[in-house]
Amino acid sequence: MSNINLDYTNVLKFITQEDINKYSDVVKENHSRLRGKSGVGCEFTDWIDYPFCYDKQEFDNIKKATQYINENADAMIVLGIGGSYLGARAVIEALTPTFSKTNSNTKIYYAGNNISSKYIKQLIEEVKDKSLCINVISKSGTTLETSIAFRIFKDLMEKKYGKEEAKNRIFVTTDKEKGVLKNIANTEGYMTFTVPDGICGRYSVLTSVGLLPISVAGINIDELIKGAQDMANILNNENLNENSAYLYAVIRNILYNNGKKIEIMANYDSSLKYFTKWCTQLFNESEGKEGKGIYFSTVENTTDLHSIGQYIQQSERIIFETVLNVEQDTFPYIIEHTSIDDGLEYIEGKTLDYINKKAMEGTIVAHVDGQVPNLKINIPILKEYYIGQLVYYFQTVAAMSGYILGINPFNQPGVEDYKKNMFKLLGKTNV
Ligand code: PA5
Repeated sequence: MSNINLDYTNVLKFITQEDINKYSDVVKENHSRLRGKSGVGCEFTDWIDYPFCYDKQEFDNIKKATQYINENADAMIVLGIGGSYLGARAVIEALTPTFSKTNSNTKIYYAGNNISSKYIKQLIEEVKDKSLCINVISKSGTTLETSIAFRIFKDLMEKKYGKEEAKNRIFVTTDKEKGVLKNIANTEGYMTFTVPDGICGRYSVLTSVGLLPISVAGINIDELIKGAQDMANILNNENLNENSAYLYAVIRNILYNNGKKIEIMANYDSSLKYFTKWCTQLFNESEGKEGKGIYFSTVENTTDLHSIGQYIQQSERIIFETVLNVEQDTFPYIIEHTSIDDGLEYIEGKTLDYINKKAMEGTIVAHVDGQVPNLKINIPILKEYYIGQLVYYFQTVAAMSGYILGINPFNQPGVEDYKKNMFKLLGKTNV
């Protein structure tokens, strides 16, 4: 089976291969900055080699903790927000059944990604009769949403199990030595996992941040890492026309400079909804700074063809679109003959996936005709190996695209501003 790949034929109606080729030298320079760790923000580029040089002991500990959790918990609540949440959920939702959302005995729930009291109260109710573990994830250890959820669920665990037993059921993923969360973990004796220093949240899916919840959901993390390793090797190529992540990054920048200020990522498979949300964070938080950056948004089709589709087709011509196309149908469903006279005989004998793909192809043609350039990312099948490839692929696109744009794709000063303001408004003194 082929690797994930980019089809940009529908962009060449708007820009030329010559426009793209002009970026060859810029890409070479930025490739050398990225891989040589000499560009802006290089202190946060350890994700580049991480699939090869991850901490093997930590990896074994993830597997041991997974076994314990799967044997002792019907449910695990993952507490975290932004990069400490979205990557794990993206991978879990892509690779687990639509309704149970797990391949193991342990169902995954999430908290700390909002401050909704309805959500928290109903989650407490939902899990009250289940055996529980929690995994709290925060690099800084001070993010308010996560800290509030931890306070609530630590207390709940101690009331449910007593302090000693709760200790075995609470897993902490944070900085290796500093921060409030690390101090609590040390004092209480919780099992801890490390967020590597040189990797920021949205690039941390393939570290303990993502891997513990993903593994607990019964997903094969060896295959995930193998996919990322192979993609890292494929993308270690400075030649623009042989590196599809770099091509995608260059095309984004050319379109942006031509007035296409919005990128809309479309999925036609609801399993990828959280993957597109993770991409939304990856691109917006990496690029949206210094008065620049494409606004990255998503649609879930065909659902959103009946809501946002009108805007894409006929609004201001400032949009381009990137479609995630899953090539192989893993759950074929054939439309059978029926006696109902509904006028749908023409789809009898066809699979739902066939019809979905025709909807996708028809929409792409309409959008391109309507002056919306279209990129298509082909994903051979929704399996661990290809999701590993996909994660690494998009991280590389975001990094290269940010470098071409001339910003630091590895910081998030705007997010820090909001955090500081919220703390001040809440009366925290040492902000
Ligand atoms: O990508 C990032 O760095 C951010 O989205 C963070 O992951 C997010 O703000 C949560 O931070 P922390 O892990 O420190 O709780």
